[in-house]
Amino acid sequence: MKAPSGKFPTIKICVLLFIVILYAESFNLLSSSSISNLKPCPTNGTKPKSNDKKTQEMVPIADAAWFNDEFVYDPEECDFTNGKWVFNSSIKPLYSDKICPYISRPYSCVKNGRVDSDYHYWQWQPEDCTLPKFNPVLALKKLQGKRLVFVGDSLQKSQWESFVCMVEWIIPEKQKSMKRGTHSVFKAKEYNTTIEFYWAPMLVESNTEFFTIRDPKKQIVRVDSIMDRARNWTGVDILVFNTYVWWMSDIKVKALWGSFGNGEEGYEELDNQIAYNLGLRTWANWVDSTIDPTKTQVFFTTMSPSHTRSADWGNKDGVKCFNETKPIGKKNHWGSGSNKGMMRVVEKVVKRMKVAVTFINITQISEYRIDAHSSVYTESGGKLLSEEEKANPRNADCIHWCLPGVPDTWNQIFLAML
Ligand SMILES: *[C@@H]1O[C@H](CO)[C@@H](O)[C@H](O)[C@H]1NC(C)=O
Ligand SMILES: *[C@@H]1O[C@H](CO)[C@@H](O)[C@H](O)[C@H]1NC(C)=O
Ligand SMILES: *[C@@H]1O[C@H](CO)[C@@H](O)[C@H](O)[C@H]1NC(C)=O
Ligand SMILES: *[C@@H]1O[C@H](CO)[C@@H](O)[C@H](O)[C@H]1NC(C)=O
Ligand SMILES: *[C@@H]1O[C@H](CO)[C@@H](O)[C@H](O)[C@H]1NC(C)=O
Ligand SMILES: *[C@@H]1O[C@H](CO)[C@@H](O)[C@H](O)[C@H]1NC(C)=O
Repeated sequence: MKAPSGKFPTIKICVLLFIVILYAESFNLLSSSSISNLKPCPTNGTKPKSNDKKTQEMVPIADAAWFNDEFVYDPEECDFTNGKWVFNSSIKPLYSDKICPYISRPYSCVKNGRVDSDYHYWQWQPEDCTLPKFNPVLALKKLQGKRLVFVGDSLQKSQWESFVCMVEWIIPEKQKSMKRGTHSVFKAKEYNTTIEFYWAPMLVESNTEFFTIRDPKKQIVRVDSIMDRARNWTGVDILVFNTYVWWMSDIKVKALWGSFGNGEEGYEELDNQIAYNLGLRTWANWVDSTIDPTKTQVFFTTMSPSHTRSADWGNKDGVKCFNETKPIGKKNHWGSGSNKGMMRVVEKVVKRMKVAVTFINITQISEYRIDAHSSVYTESGGKLLSEEEKANPRNADCIHWCLPGVPDTWNQIFLAML
């Protein structure tokens, strides 16, 4: 691990762990998570009826009139990121990893043998208001006739899978379809809506993103190359980007300028924040020069914290997030897995943009959730961990999240802002 830089400790992800992340990035899909049942924010709307319909039942859209369409998110009125996780054993997730067919294996914790279930029953409670619960009918209504595209890494993929799983159960089988790949497309036909995911873990191009090269030391990032892939992001109604963890390996980032035609020579080794800034500026320039803000809404999901250092939350005998079953209760806890310097880079780049970009600021709320990672209920090299491997805390994945789980709350916040 490198020495801390700046005011906040910067623990970079060690090379070995980085390889683990890469392996976890296979192209099967993830998804699912628990839904918080919160009352609407200050606006006065009809209170939703209890949401105890079995997830496997098809709910005729006309019957599902319990949404509070009236709710409008007002950032002046409520900062969703300031609050706490409250245990509520009456919460019923909208889906499970056994019911939703779109969840990638590394996130299917229950299927993979996780038996403790408390992590499903925490709901995010902002201090100054309540967050409206995720209403799948309302979500589809808002997306009617539109394309929603998530672009980014595996954490973004889990946000996309969570979103799809939260809405897909109200759509009859014949009215939906899914095509998976580098560019995955979920279609809700009667709504003329697509909810898509585009794999671009650094937004700009790199030679490791398709796993032909798995050695992080050989990773080269084309910090100014985005045009080829970005053609697929034009004409979209709602774009949601993220990128963070792929910039956080232990070693310097090998940054290369210019086209692939120049081969892989001539790269420069840069500190991660500098390289991140270059990559994000390439992205920002593309957005500013291409996106028509009257037609397209642009969001950016902030970094998802990893929990690989149990000393951060005072568990000196622990190993990573292994065996953790409760969120951190200490207000404003901030661990070494969320790099404030990287956050400042994003903030600065976005501030200078012409096109308004709305942050889905998930970092603080997720920082508390050491209990909700995939941990040992995951796979390695395409195989589920054996019982023996599960007993070894070192195998815990404390970067990705179980579905249903924390990414559902990200989407709850996202939907409230949409
Ligand atoms: C707990 O969840 C149930 C079901 O969604 C809800 O009716 C109840 O109000 C929640 N309790 C609290 C304290 O928020
Ligand atoms: C909210 O609406 C209900 C029914 O429309 C009404 O009875 C109630 O007084 C309203 N509450 C507030 C705080 O406006
Ligand atoms: C479906 O949505 C697309 C935009 O995503 C639009 O161009 C098309 O006209 C819509 N079709 C119908 C039948 O509403
Ligand atoms: C969209 O992305 C694919 C790779 O997923 C690429 O082959 C194709 O050329 C792109 N399409 C456009 C129009 O840029
Ligand atoms: C992890 O938790 C399980 C179940 O509570 C317990 O049996 C096991 O000893 C714990 N392992 C470690 C290393 O603490
Ligand atoms: C996200 O929220 C954290 C605190 O909750 C704050 O420090 C950070 O600046 C915010 N990031 C952005 C990009 O707004």
